[in-house]
Amino acid sequence: MADHTTPPSNQLAAATLNDDVAASTVKKHQFSDRVLIRSIVSRPDGGAGLAGQRVRVGGWVKTGREQGKGSFAFLEVNDGSCPANLQVIVDAAVADLAQLVQTGTSVSVEGLLKNPPEGTKQKVELRVEKVIDVGTVDPAKYPIPKTKLTLEFLRDRIHFRPRTNTISAVARIRNALAFATHTFFQEHGFLYVHTPIVTTSDCEGAGEMFQVTTLINEAERVEKELIKNPPPSEADIEAGNFIAKEKAETVNKQKSDKADKAVINASVFELTKAKENVAKLVERSKLKPGIPQKDGKIDYGQDFFGRQAFLTVSGQLQVETYACAVSNVYTFGPTFRAENSHTSRHLAEFWMVEPEIAFADLKDDMNCAEAYVKFMCHWLLDKCLDDMEFMAKNYDKTCIDRLRMVASTPFERISYTEAVELLLVAVKEGKKFENAVEWGIDLASEHERYLTEVKFQKPVIVYNYPKGIKAFYMRVNDDLKTVAAMDVLVPKVGELIGGSQREERIDIIKDRILEMGLPLEPYEWYLDLRRFGTVKHCGFGLGFERMILFATGIDNIRDVIPFPRYPGRADL
Ligand code: 4AD
Ligand code: MG
Repeated sequence: MADHTTPPSNQLAAATLNDDVAASTVKKHQFSDRVLIRSIVSRPDGGAGLAGQRVRVGGWVKTGREQGKGSFAFLEVNDGSCPANLQVIVDAAVADLAQLVQTGTSVSVEGLLKNPPEGTKQKVELRVEKVIDVGTVDPAKYPIPKTKLTLEFLRDRIHFRPRTNTISAVARIRNALAFATHTFFQEHGFLYVHTPIVTTSDCEGAGEMFQVTTLINEAERVEKELIKNPPPSEADIEAGNFIAKEKAETVNKQKSDKADKAVINASVFELTKAKENVAKLVERSKLKPGIPQKDGKIDYGQDFFGRQAFLTVSGQLQVETYACAVSNVYTFGPTFRAENSHTSRHLAEFWMVEPEIAFADLKDDMNCAEAYVKFMCHWLLDKCLDDMEFMAKNYDKTCIDRLRMVASTPFERISYTEAVELLLVAVKEGKKFENAVEWGIDLASEHERYLTEVKFQKPVIVYNYPKGIKAFYMRVNDDLKTVAAMDVLVPKVGELIGGSQREERIDIIKDRILEMGLPLEPYEWYLDLRRFGTVKHCGFGLGFERMILFATGIDNIRDVIPFPRYPGRADL
């Protein structure tokens, strides 16, 4: 008798994605009445082993052409599950071909997978028997025509960008890197902590924060309201007071006349209403157009949070409270910087991965950063090779080799002082930099890229920076001139990671905050972490979009985030 608890082996084989490729049946998507194109064409056999299977697929037509004097059409259909398209053949008897062949048309079709004739590129094609749904496109009006489009052009059509091969490949690579990030930190015992987006602390102390306020829309609302409904005059309030006084006298009189209780109650009710009316008039008479002021300054006490608030530039300070309690943590979320830089490496809204490790020093920090970057490189080579091949073909021939190199080569580690010496040697040998090199400068992108791209040709970790150019929370070294900071520099991008060992000594960190001209008060809670149970700890921040730039070789950071925000632009 058959054992009903064991599914037939071909069903078992189809149960996991990896096994999909070996199975001779194709697995339907669990939450949609169709098969992902990836599970057909991304198999090692290109789908050849699936010939004879009946499937339903859904996707958008990349290109279509009518053939055989209009008797059938070839469609290249893509559903975003992988870079490759599925070739679909539709007979004129089955559908209106002129409609189907337009680029951008959505189709849901069912049919039989077949092996194409010998000598064709495809290993499998779909012979359509039934067209289930079509979302048509007027080619004269479609915003992203079939011609090769520049990334700049696509930025102006942000809602259709994901339909392009490039942006969908970037989306899959970005997704893979996010999954890799969680996998890496979870496997190493880090707890994922959600730090706030709205904050009242300036982590970097650089004053590049976007303010969060309702004072402006509130002022606009009041202004409109006052035009529609002018505020009560003194005379209106006086009249209201007069009525209330009369009502009060009536109540008093009725009480002294020992009037009926119901009559008194009714008069008390009238009196209450009159008093409420006066209160409302007084309240409205206080309404003034404009932003509320106190002592000649904006009165943030009347703002939504009762104080000035901002979008976070980094989750570090808040995540430290968890590191100083549960020891290994990371945060991964959006961060915001109002720096007016129009470079290809800066966004106003970007994502940052920030681990924080207790009982660990700068060396541990560098080891963690290096292991994490290597892990992501391995991950892409393992899981996204088809998308990486697309990038290599279209954007950067060296991107796959670069991932391999970084995954397998130890990072160079040099102190800031050594880095400056190397740059000075380069200058002596004739290298021209726009920014002059001397000990104490903040390394510019051109310096960073020289070190990683020219001098070492691999990732470089520069550590122990002058304290004058770094944030207040970095631990002061024994030389009292430098701090235990480290930046990871990589080819193509320059600075990918910034991190440090944190200053855990209360007196020193207080001095540092004051030295930087920052007020102590907002940081009192942060100082408490040093006052009570202080611990050696360190952490870093990896710019997630910079990692994608590094991996893909794409030139502009605006093309590796779904909805880029930069000076003058915040579409959708
Ligand atoms: O070096 P940063 O400013 O470090 C911090 O914010 C620390 N609080 C991190 C920490 O120790 N937890 O920023 C970290 C990284 C940079 O190395 C860079 O990759 C990226 O964030 N980054 C940006 N990416 C895109 N656009 C911007 N405007 C960026 N600013 C920084
Ligand atoms: Mg930095």
